[in-house]
Amino acid sequence: MYSQKRYCMKMFTLLLVSAGLIALYVLRNWYLKRPRCKSNAKLHGKTVIVTGSNTGIGKTTAIDLSRRGARVIMACRDKQRAEAAISDIKKETGNNEVVFMELDLGSLQSVRSFAETFLKSEFRLDILVNNAGLMKGGKTKNGVGMIFGVNHLGHFLLTVLLLDRLKECSPSRVVTVTSKAHEYGKIDFNCLSTHKDLAVGESDWALFKKYSHSKLCNMLFTHELAKRLEGTNVTCYSLCPGAVKTEIGRYSSSLWCMMSAPILSLFYMDAESGAQTTLYCALQEGIEPLSGCYFSCCAVQKVNADAKDDAVAKKLWEVSEILCGMS
Ligand SMILES: NC(=O)c1ccc[n+]([C@@H]2O[C@H](COP(=O)([O-])OP(=O)(O)OC[C@H]3O[C@@H](n4cnc5c(N)ncnc54)[C@H](OP(=O)(O)O)[C@@H]3O)[C@@H](O)[C@H]2O)c1
Ligand SMILES: *[C@@H]1O[C@H](CO)[C@@H](O)[C@H](O)[C@H]1NC(C)=O
Repeated sequence: MYSQKRYCMKMFTLLLVSAGLIALYVLRNWYLKRPRCKSNAKLHGKTVIVTGSNTGIGKTTAIDLSRRGARVIMACRDKQRAEAAISDIKKETGNNEVVFMELDLGSLQSVRSFAETFLKSEFRLDILVNNAGLMKGGKTKNGVGMIFGVNHLGHFLLTVLLLDRLKECSPSRVVTVTSKAHEYGKIDFNCLSTHKDLAVGESDWALFKKYSHSKLCNMLFTHELAKRLEGTNVTCYSLCPGAVKTEIGRYSSSLWCMMSAPILSLFYMDAESGAQTTLYCALQEGIEPLSGCYFSCCAVQKVNADAKDDAVAKKLWEVSEILCGMS
């Protein structure tokens, strides 16, 4: 009697665990089945810039764009890492017009000299992909918080310096990779004026908060940029790539890495899938009326009021100009 009851319990537990695993597997496959960019656009004779393209989502974006025939400028801070990626891309796509141009977004001087070199040596700019990003403490070479400095300010200056060329080559696009994490961000102009950063602290949690703030900056930047570009045939978009297996967590503590590893391997998509919404924003025909909008899963998304706040976006633009020494 007793042993039969135990046997039933065991069988029941086994059944429950199996059902749980199957459910998890189905959920995972459903979750990872993301839409793909269906555009057949070819890019022969066009020039694109992808920042942070030596690895992760930037690299798979560069691969796709070079497969379409574009001249791809790999705007990266580390020559060796970039050259290694370039040789992979050339091998994989057969396109030899993939070139390294040094860009460290954590140095405004580097952004300026990148823009100068680019404008002197290249004739076109059809698509600018502001992709680079990190979640790392410390300050940039200009004494600005690293996350705010690289994710927002460097890309802000880069885009502004390239706008005239984008206008000359219109229709053209500016695509900025942000994150759903922007929903947790806020823009604290007081903190920004005292610390040249949007928050203080260096714990994993503090860095994540700074990261969300910087991604909200990406949203507001795109919102304001779209207004400034009205009537030019240059359009701009922001997007979340989804949860993607890349090197983005490389500066996080080992405890965090250990804890997140199982979730990462189960639920995060590969970098090729992770590039699809970037590619959609860069290539999809007919989305021009949606300039300034936010996309994910290859579709336009609604955004919270604070990610499209006209006054905050305008002020952020002006503060960014000051921090870049432009006014
Ligand atoms: N992975 C995700 O789940 C996820 C989710 C939402 C949004 N995103 C966004 O997607 C974008 C790409 O990230 P990823 O996941 O592909 O990360 P990743 O694998 O770490 O790649 C980031 C790229 O940015 C470059 N970079 C970092 N600091 C730079 C600087 N100061 N100057 C120039 N380049 C710099 C890196 O260059 P080095 O190799 O030289 O450091 C690298 O090429 C980021 O904007 C990120 O915020 C990612
Ligand atoms: C924008 O594109 C339209 C359609 O091609 C064209 O008629 C118009 O002149 C362009 N405007 C500018 C400012 O280039």
